[in-house]
Amino acid sequence: MRKNIVAGNWKMNKNLQEGIALAKELNEALAADKPNCDVVICTPFIHLASVTPIVDSAVIGVGAENCADKVSGAYTGEVSAEMVASTGTQYVILGHSERRSYYGETVEILEEKVKLALANNLKPIFCIGEVLEERQAEKQNEVVAAQLASVFTLSAEDFSKIILAYEPVWAIGTGLTATPEQAQDIHAYIRSLIAEKYGKEVADNTSILYGGSCKPSNAKELFAKPDVDGGLIGGAALKVADFKGIIDAFK
Ligand code: PGA
Repeated sequence: MRKNIVAGNWKMNKNLQEGIALAKELNEALAADKPNCDVVICTPFIHLASVTPIVDSAVIGVGAENCADKVSGAYTGEVSAEMVASTGTQYVILGHSERRSYYGETVEILEEKVKLALANNLKPIFCIGEVLEERQAEKQNEVVAAQLASVFTLSAEDFSKIILAYEPVWAIGTGLTATPEQAQDIHAYIRSLIAEKYGKEVADNTSILYGGSCKPSNAKELFAKPDVDGGLIGGAALKVADFKGIIDAFK
């Protein structure tokens, strides 16, 4: 059966020393009180090599927030999936709405990134979600279906390695959260698309996380929905008390 997962997305926050301190604090908190779900922290590239060895890999997985769409070579400033994997990192967020909107990441670019991540044994946390105008026009289902094209070219075996995160862009960092019912409706729709494409077993085994202003006070209600298998957490992942409060929603 699919896993429940709480993943943190640090975004462009915390310098190296602060990031190491945050990872250590989380590691200690979860050693003292074991989580009832998988826990992942996704950090800036420069933190990966330092953070990966200091967390207990049986309890906390580490992920990057992005990787290049090219294998290697003259791409100044880029970081390849192979480089990410060489730090011991196991996950990578791909397709985050901030990458799509600020850095022009298209369905085609993301398809390349997903393939390279998988080729390097990284588990993609693949993000999809609509913007406010699309939600207001009731186009959210169409939007997520189109975004899934980046991962629907994969074989069933490769698709099974992917974690999905539904993140309505209007709820990211805004304090607005999708209601548990809104989240459940679209998660169930996403799962139905997976079932159509890859069959019921693959669909039932795919973890679909919710992201967007998830916090300790709303996590339990969201995660209680049958098709919501955890969360991708931005702001609340930067404080151990908040992040742990969300992890504890599975207790
Ligand atoms: P937020 O971000 O929890 O700060 O809304 C979620 C995300 O962007 O992954």
